[in-house]
Amino acid sequence: MDTAYTIGLGNNDTLTRKRASQDYIKFWDEEANNLHWFERWNKTLEWNQPFARWFVNGKTNASYNALDVVSQKNGKKTAILWEGEDGKTRSLTYQELLDYVCRVANVFKSIGVEKGDRVTIYLPMIPELVISMLACARIGAIHTVIFSGFSSQSIRDRVIDSRSKVIVTADGGFRRGEIVKLKQVIDEAVSGLDFVEHVLVYEHAKIPVSKGEKDKRWADLVNGAPEHCEPEKLDSAHPLYILYTSGTTGKPKGVLHGTGGYLVHIRSTFKWIFDIKESDIYFCTADIGWVTGHSYVVYGPLMHGATQVMYEGTLVFPTPARIWDLVERYKITILYTTPTALRMFMKYGDLLPNSKDLSSLRLLGTVGEPINPEVWRWYFRVIGKEKCPIVDTWWQTETGGTMISSIPGLETVPLKPGSATRQLPGISMTVVDEDGNDLPPEKKGYLVAKAPWPGMLLSLWGDDEKYKTVYWSKYKTMYYSGDYAIMDKDGYFWMLGRADDVLKIAGHRLGTAEIESGFVSHKSVAEAAVCGIPHEVKGESIVAFLVLKEGIVSSEQLEDELVQHIRKVVGPIATPDQLYIVSKLPKTRSGKIMRRLLKSVASNEKIGDVSTLEDGEAVDEVRNAFNELHRVIRKNKIR
Ligand code: WTA
Repeated sequence: MDTAYTIGLGNNDTLTRKRASQDYIKFWDEEANNLHWFERWNKTLEWNQPFARWFVNGKTNASYNALDVVSQKNGKKTAILWEGEDGKTRSLTYQELLDYVCRVANVFKSIGVEKGDRVTIYLPMIPELVISMLACARIGAIHTVIFSGFSSQSIRDRVIDSRSKVIVTADGGFRRGEIVKLKQVIDEAVSGLDFVEHVLVYEHAKIPVSKGEKDKRWADLVNGAPEHCEPEKLDSAHPLYILYTSGTTGKPKGVLHGTGGYLVHIRSTFKWIFDIKESDIYFCTADIGWVTGHSYVVYGPLMHGATQVMYEGTLVFPTPARIWDLVERYKITILYTTPTALRMFMKYGDLLPNSKDLSSLRLLGTVGEPINPEVWRWYFRVIGKEKCPIVDTWWQTETGGTMISSIPGLETVPLKPGSATRQLPGISMTVVDEDGNDLPPEKKGYLVAKAPWPGMLLSLWGDDEKYKTVYWSKYKTMYYSGDYAIMDKDGYFWMLGRADDVLKIAGHRLGTAEIESGFVSHKSVAEAAVCGIPHEVKGESIVAFLVLKEGIVSSEQLEDELVQHIRKVVGPIATPDQLYIVSKLPKTRSGKIMRRLLKSVASNEKIGDVSTLEDGEAVDEVRNAFNELHRVIRKNKIR
C-alpha cells in the first residue's frame, strides 16, 4: 500500500463526524433542515428492516429544491453550460431552467401524466434530459432514464417492467462524430406496447424520423406551454425515480429511490465531498443514464446552485485533447470522472494535458471502479499539479449517494492512492467474513452497511421479495453490497471489485447473466458463459464462451453475427472482446458454470493450483476442462 499524501482544502471540521458518531439518526435529522420542506416530518426514521422510510410525513419536492430555492436567491446564476461534440454551445440560468421545467411539467400534465405515473427518458446528454427529469419530479411522476447506449430490446424490457405511459426521446444524438438514431431505437422498443400512450420527440440532431400516431413533436407542445407549474407537495417516501441496473440474474433490477431521504443524502454528501463554492465550475463527465448522473449531475449540483458544464459526446473527440480543452475554456474547478476515462487520457501521454492551462482545477474526483494507484498518482501529478485533493467516491445505484470517500469539504486527511479512504459521517460501513463477523484490519471480506442511510433504495420496483433476497439474505441484519474490500488499520477502505457475477465494463455495470441470456436468445446458441478479465483501459472486458446447437457449424461469419446480435439485444456496451465457440462449458457437479476457471483460462493464467479454482470439484475434472479450453483458445488465436 502507498504512502500518504496529505492534501486538502484546509477545512477542519471535527464536529460533524463527532455528532454523526454519537447518534446517526439525530445527525441526519439535523442535516434534513438544509432542505426545503413544505411540511416538516414527525419521525426521522422508520426502520422496518429491511425497509427504511426517512423523514416520515415530511412533504417536499425535488424540483423545488433543485430550482426554485436557488432561483429565488439568484435566478441569473448560470446552471448549465452545455457543449455538443460539434462545438455548439448553450447556457441556461436557474430561472430559465425553472421556466423550462415548468413548461414541460405542464405538457406532461396535459397529456395525462399523473402523480406516480412512470415516464421513460431516452435522450442524449442535452439540457432537455435534465429538464425532463425535473419536470417529472415537479408533478410527482417517476422518471426512469435509460442510458442511450442500450439497445431497443433492453429498453423494451425496462419500459414493460415500469409500464411507462410516456416516453421522451430525441431524433438523434452525437457520438464520435456520428449520429445515433435514438427515435428509431424507440420505435422498435415500444412497438405494440399499448400502455405507452405518447412518445415525445425532441429535435436535436435534425434528422428525419418516422411519425407514428403516438409521436408528438417536443417543440409543438412545449413552446406554447405556461411557464408556471406549482410543485406537488410530495411525501418524503414518494418515489422519485427508478433506475435499472444489472445484478446476478438475467433481468435488470429497477432500483427505486424516494424523495426526502435521497435528497438529504445527496445534498450533504455533495457539499462534504466537493466543498462547492459560489464561484465553482463543476464538471462531472458521467452520463445521466447512470446513477452518478442522477445524483451528482442533476440533483446534487442543482440543489447547491452550482454552475456546471454538461457535455454531449466523447471526451477524446475530435482530438484526445478535448477534455483538457474543456477544462481550459470553461475554467473548470472541479472535475469528477472515472478510472476508465483517466486510463484512456493517460494513454495519450502528458503532452496533451501539459499543453493546456489546467490551473483552474482545485479538486479532482473519481467514481465507479477501483482506481489503480498509478492512475491516481498520474491524475494527482499531471492533472492536479500536486495541489488538488482527489476524492475517490465509492457508492452504488442502490446506495443513491456516496458512502465512502475523502471529504475535503469538511476535513483534511491523508489520502492513499487507490483507497476510497473512510466512510462518510452518518454512514456505517464495514468489512465482514462469510458469517457476518467483523474482520480485523487488512483482511479481505465483504463490504456491508450496518445501519440504514437516507439515500438507501426504497426497494426494487414491484419486487419487495427480490429486494430482500438480493441485499438482505446473505446477512439478515446488514445490507450486502456485493463488493469485496479490505479495511486497513487506519479505517481506510480498499475496494477489491465485485464478489458476485456483475462486471464493470468501462465503469458500466453489466450482469454476466444478462449477457448470457442475450447470447442464448440467438437461434444458433445452446449455452453461453461470460466472464470478465482485466483490461488496461476499461478495467474489465468481456470474454464469451458459447456452445452451439446440434448441427450448427462454427464459422467466422457466425461469430460476427453473434457479436452483432449481442449488440442488438443488450447494447454496444455488451460487445465481447473475445468470443470462443466450445463444445461444452465446464460445470461443477451441481451444474454451476465454473466461472473462475473460465476467467483464468481467458486471462491466459497458468493452471497453477487448480484445486483452489473451483471449490469442491475433483482436481482432474477441473484440469481437463482447463486444458480443453486452452486448446480451443489457442486454435482460435492461430486462425
Ligand atoms: C463499483 C456507480 C471502487 C463497486 C456509482 C460498486 C467502485 C459498483 C467505486 C456500483 C470506487 C463504485 N472504487 N469501486 N470508488 N465506485 N464502484 O451501481 O463495485 O453503477 O459495487 O454505481 O461500482 O456500480 P453502480
